[in-house]
Amino acid sequence: MSGYQGPMRVLSGIQTSGEMHLGNYIGAIRKFVALQHEYDCHYFLADLHAITVWQEPEQLRRQTRHIAASFLAAGIDPKIATIFPQSKVRAHAELAWIFNCVARLGWLDRMTQFKDKAGKNAERASVGLYTYPVLQAADILVYKATHVPVGEDQKQHLELSRDIAGKFNHDFKQPDFFPLPEPLIKGQFGDAGARIMSLKDGSKKMSKSDPSENACIFLRDDADTIARKIKKAKSDADVLPSEPAGLEGRAEAANLVGIYAALSGKTTADILSEYGGQGFGVFKPALADLVVEKIAPIGDELRRLEADPAHLDGLLTAGAEKAAVIADETVKEVKEIVGFLV
Ligand code: AMP
Ligand code: TRP
Repeated sequence: MSGYQGPMRVLSGIQTSGEMHLGNYIGAIRKFVALQHEYDCHYFLADLHAITVWQEPEQLRRQTRHIAASFLAAGIDPKIATIFPQSKVRAHAELAWIFNCVARLGWLDRMTQFKDKAGKNAERASVGLYTYPVLQAADILVYKATHVPVGEDQKQHLELSRDIAGKFNHDFKQPDFFPLPEPLIKGQFGDAGARIMSLKDGSKKMSKSDPSENACIFLRDDADTIARKIKKAKSDADVLPSEPAGLEGRAEAANLVGIYAALSGKTTADILSEYGGQGFGVFKPALADLVVEKIAPIGDELRRLEADPAHLDGLLTAGAEKAAVIADETVKEVKEIVGFLV
């Protein structure tokens, strides 16, 4: 056990590998927004992680700015939280190397995300994709972060971060040096809408890589596009049930009600007591109004911010300088502990 006594600190990152969508907003970004008022928060754009699979250089730069703009448009305040690109704070990569020498091959062999992403042809995957979770541990521990808001899918990586922190503390006889970071999976929004599914298939996660353009609502979508996608969303011919249990086996209906719950803050039971007995001809327009009300203003602000990349770059450089003060100090301490000349 770590007897870590340092401050509570929140850290999370999103890979700079695509367009932000409603699932990212509900599952991640709006949690980041809420947490900034309670904790010392660091949110970074994980570009070092993004290049573990091929990225077109110009597109990578655009996507990095896009995610930064999405954070700001959604309400993350750079005066309160620190926002920066991972590659601008070199301490991440430095600590990752040292952690490569702490983590054991057997630990990485168990990581399911690598197996999913590398697929059958694992021999052709980059070495970076394999050591991806080690870099993630460095991202977290270089700030001695205590709490990490992530989706369910990142739980295993968080456990690995704890294992690395624990082994480092043990091997170098510094029991209190690194905290053992805790995942923050549910947050104050509860379970509602934790996982947003495709609008075309209620069994698949909403994802930017869905081949159907109507399956995913992007933060960039304007009000008409949002309303059209909801109108075309897959549903079923039944009316809505008046109790949550009635949604069982109706994945698409459950997802639409889940989105409504997540964005309205109402419980599924409340929504169904209001809409139970009504068909999708009534529910979908109400849902479209709600999503437009919550998401379209973010899209407007996002486009405005993206139109001024120099302003975004300035904010990110300032964020990186602030982050580096903490991160460089940790690396300095680690180098001393490990036995490097300092
Ligand atoms: P990704 O775009 O998959 O790299 O995910 C970035 C963040 O958004 C992670 O914290 C995910 O857990 C979250 N996320 C991605 N897709 C969804 C979804 N469909 N529903 C809820 N959260 C999601
Ligand atoms: N692996 C995370 C994801 O795919 C992104 C990430 C990288 C991250 N480093 C992190 C999340 C550190 C939390 C903390 O969503």
